[in-house]
Amino acid sequence: MQWVLATIIVLCVGCAEQQIQPLPDIYPSVPSNFPPLPVPPDNPITPAKAALGKTLFFERRLSSDGTTACASCHLPSRSFSDAPNQVSRGVGGALGQRNAPTLINVAYRTTLFWDGRASTLEDQAKSAFMHSAEMDADTVAVAALLRSADYRGQWIAAFGDTAVTMRRTMQAIATFERTIVSANSRYDKFVRGDRSALTHIEREGMDLFFSSRSMCSSCHNGPDFTNDQFHNIGLFHHYFDRGRFNVTREPRDEGLFKTPTLRNVALTAPYMATGDSQKGLMSTLEDVVEHYNEGGTAFPNKDKRVAPLNLTDREKLALVAFMRALTDSSVLTNPAWIQP
Ligand code: HEC
Ligand code: HEC
Repeated sequence: MQWVLATIIVLCVGCAEQQIQPLPDIYPSVPSNFPPLPVPPDNPITPAKAALGKTLFFERRLSSDGTTACASCHLPSRSFSDAPNQVSRGVGGALGQRNAPTLINVAYRTTLFWDGRASTLEDQAKSAFMHSAEMDADTVAVAALLRSADYRGQWIAAFGDTAVTMRRTMQAIATFERTIVSANSRYDKFVRGDRSALTHIEREGMDLFFSSRSMCSSCHNGPDFTNDQFHNIGLFHHYFDRGRFNVTREPRDEGLFKTPTLRNVALTAPYMATGDSQKGLMSTLEDVVEHYNEGGTAFPNKDKRVAPLNLTDREKLALVAFMRALTDSSVLTNPAWIQP
């Protein structure tokens, strides 16, 4: 931990005059093959703000009954998801309705939540914080906590004075989230030139994944294997959770959900927005591949690219093997992100 702190200090020299600061080097997996980290000009990353955000991310006292922190449903040890829970419990044991997504590389997402109802991490954090089934925050009590001696030092370090506001609280949490960058899977090593990083069958799976036969990469593309767009992949005959429709009220958006990242997907089962399909729990990558192989359930808005694939057993194994090679387990233990 010593060298970690030293690095932050060294790298922060000159931070003040930069609007958008590079992520400090303590985060060892900053990918060389990624675009620059998107950071809003009014909330530059500073080490002190990221540190405060981290404390807040693990702070159960932000919730109305003191039971629930962001980290209760986004566990670092589960790649910041709530695996193996299909849905999560918030304050008072309230059950949510959707599967908690991973937060790795979330800074790169242009749309947030399965239905895209938030577009900035600052707004997203506020909505989790206020949601009656998540943290149900009592803003007066939270403000008192953040003004108390417990937070005073960290607050001043992050913002320069003691003015506690909702906006700053969300800026700090969002800053912490932006630091969760991951690109250290065997697939990344392969992309960066280590031809031995993937096994034979994983390479077969990779070729199939990126082929026009499987069409996987027509939606799961870019560095995080997502186009950040909404599609229906034929999971249900009838969508009780109407997905994107809830945001746009357009019939063509009924049953559409955001393409999820596939990074660390082997660690975040069960799968899909509600963790299940017509056929039951989506608990393994094999279940997911079987779903695509069969072409999904008939539904008017189903994307044409989801159609029977006639994969051989070997091809199914290869696709699963490839997705397992997207695991970066350094995320789970990085001192920058785990509970202090
Ligand atoms: C009770 C469990 C729970 C708590 C507590 C919780 N989340 Fe979530 N989070 C979820 C679920 C479930 C979703 C997906 C909800 C949806 O799409 O409608 C989600 C979605 C997100 C997303 C969107 C990710 C994406 O790719 O779209 C972000 C970011 C996020 N949460 C951050 C946070 C932060 C920050 C906090 C604390 C302020 C927090 N969450 C608290 C369960 C939780
Ligand atoms: C038309 C766009 C599209 C295509 C083609 C597509 N996907 Fe998806 N994928 C999605 C969307 C959207 C979801 C989320 C659906 C939902 O929850 O309703 C998803 C979910 C997944 C998940 C679950 C991830 C998680 O965290 O829950 C996996 C794994 C997956 N897809 C793999 C694949 C593979 C492998 C292929 C090719 C055989 C493929 N996808 C083809 C759009 C697509």
